[in-house]
Amino acid sequence: MTPTMEDLDPGAEHERLVLCRDPEAGYQAIIAVHSTAAGPAAGGTRLWTYATEAEAVEDALRLSRGMTYKNAMARLPLGGGKSVILRDGEIANREALFRTHGRFIERFGGRYYTGEDVGTSPADMEIVRRETQHVLGVTEDPSPYTARGVVRAMKAAAFHRWGSDDLSGRTVAIQGCGHVGFHLAGELRGAGARLLVADVDAERVRRTVEATGASAVPPEEIFDAEADVFAPCALGGILNAGTIPRLRVEIVAGAANNQLGEPADGERLHARGILYAPDYVANAGGVIFGCQEMLGWSAETVRERIEAIYSTTLEVLGLAADQKASPHIAADRLAEQRLAVLAAERQLR
Ligand code: NAI
Repeated sequence: MTPTMEDLDPGAEHERLVLCRDPEAGYQAIIAVHSTAAGPAAGGTRLWTYATEAEAVEDALRLSRGMTYKNAMARLPLGGGKSVILRDGEIANREALFRTHGRFIERFGGRYYTGEDVGTSPADMEIVRRETQHVLGVTEDPSPYTARGVVRAMKAAAFHRWGSDDLSGRTVAIQGCGHVGFHLAGELRGAGARLLVADVDAERVRRTVEATGASAVPPEEIFDAEADVFAPCALGGILNAGTIPRLRVEIVAGAANNQLGEPADGERLHARGILYAPDYVANAGGVIFGCQEMLGWSAETVRERIEAIYSTTLEVLGLAADQKASPHIAADRLAEQRLAVLAAERQLR
């Protein structure tokens, strides 16, 4: 059977939605391009087990839209896209799977660039690269850059909240001691913060405690920790009707994608007087770093752009206060404005 690429109805918001199949390679994927208004769509490849194809489509649509907003907010000349490969049991041949994926990405002719995401690795992206140049190989782990950006967002939120961005003596509760959480703990330790850390992986907790002098908290208790800041660096959807009432912090700022279970959770935080630094503003350091490889940016430009997460966060929080809106709403509005500017600039080039 030959590989097939079928266009599905992308709806009003998205530019393109494609169902890609190659049964011989055990490959089935959805590739969604939300917007190329600011530049080529960029967004990683997720490998995940979905209950249904419709669920995979939903995920690709939601994640690709999120990438447009994240990239526009960071003023990157990039649009938003995402691939999800539907996992069906054990992968018989990873090489065949990712080579096939590369061939489909090549068919986008440079309108979509991919990279690693949940379930995929830099090694997988090297396989993709054998078939297309439109992939970020991730030559270096982006998570220290993401952690740096989270610190910038956290400091801006601290300034907005307390009139000072000095984190020394403040207590930060970090959920997740993985790639980003570990580096974040190191940065915050350097800034003089006290740390509470939790992970379901005891080895990762041990490593973080050893490197930073943090205190370990059982993973299920991190929501109840008395602290100044809560930094979600594990999974998405963890700010919800069940967890928000338990928080004993004044600020939430972390790296995890899609922290709010649903938009109403942004209102729940707001109603509790907890200041939320929107996830895609705070965690843009990784994608900004990717511009070094994709757009040839210098290390200095990357550094400056990551520093600017501070001013962007301040702007979002200021707008939210002025508009009497919660920060996740103000963030979307600002991202939409920035997207319009980037798109207009691109027209002029
Ligand atoms: P990771 O997989 O290295 O770390 C996540 C950690 O969370 C793991 O150590 C895992 O054991 C832990 N974890 C899982 N469930 C948990 C629970 N219920 N309680 C406590 N800990 C739990 O992932 P990474 O790269 O550090 O990313 C963290 C988050 O940040 C993810 O949501 C990711 O999508 C997001 N992100 C990461 C970026 C990066 O540069 N790595 C860039 C932008 C967003």
